[in-house]
Amino acid sequence: MEQVTKLKRNVLLIGFMGSGKTTVGRKLSWKLRVPVEDTDSLIEQKAGRTIMEIFQTEGEESFRKMETEELREICGRNYRRILSVGGGTPVREENRELLKKCGTVIYLRVKPETVYERLKGDKTRPLLQTENPLERIRELIKARERAYEECADVILDVDDLDAEECADRLARWLEVNA
Ligand code: S3P
Repeated sequence: MEQVTKLKRNVLLIGFMGSGKTTVGRKLSWKLRVPVEDTDSLIEQKAGRTIMEIFQTEGEESFRKMETEELREICGRNYRRILSVGGGTPVREENRELLKKCGTVIYLRVKPETVYERLKGDKTRPLLQTENPLERIRELIKARERAYEECADVILDVDDLDAEECADRLARWLEVNA
């Protein structure tokens, strides 16, 4: 893989839980030799608690505020990087505006069944701790897909790709387009 020496804009990875944002972000970072950050990890580090604990003790709304603050802060910094954000980030209009201003937005699109298979038994996602996670995944994706599409510069369907293939395709696309 050719090395991209200068990334003109930040690269932002959005998509539903289990779409591979964090893993693909890390692989892309290695391929492009640019740093990668992840808003969920930054929030956890700052709060000294896991996302699950934040949801349990302060509630989702409080987490959403932290998410917007984190995004605003990171996008205000003036070095180039890859940033993966939580699956719910693009739901707020304010966040969509921030994402679009911040750089090239890549939407990793995934089908509910793929998410279900990938995240079966996962205990770290508060929104999926329900009786019927597949149903919840379907509802959430349906409710969110327009928001994801609205801020995306490019959409990659990831159901049949592993993280390495996703990162390869994105690296090639970015070399030409970003
Ligand atoms: C959420 C997705 C999670 C995390 C939180 C809420 C969501 O991030 O931000 O549990 O609303 O979809 P990942 O997409 O990285 O799992």
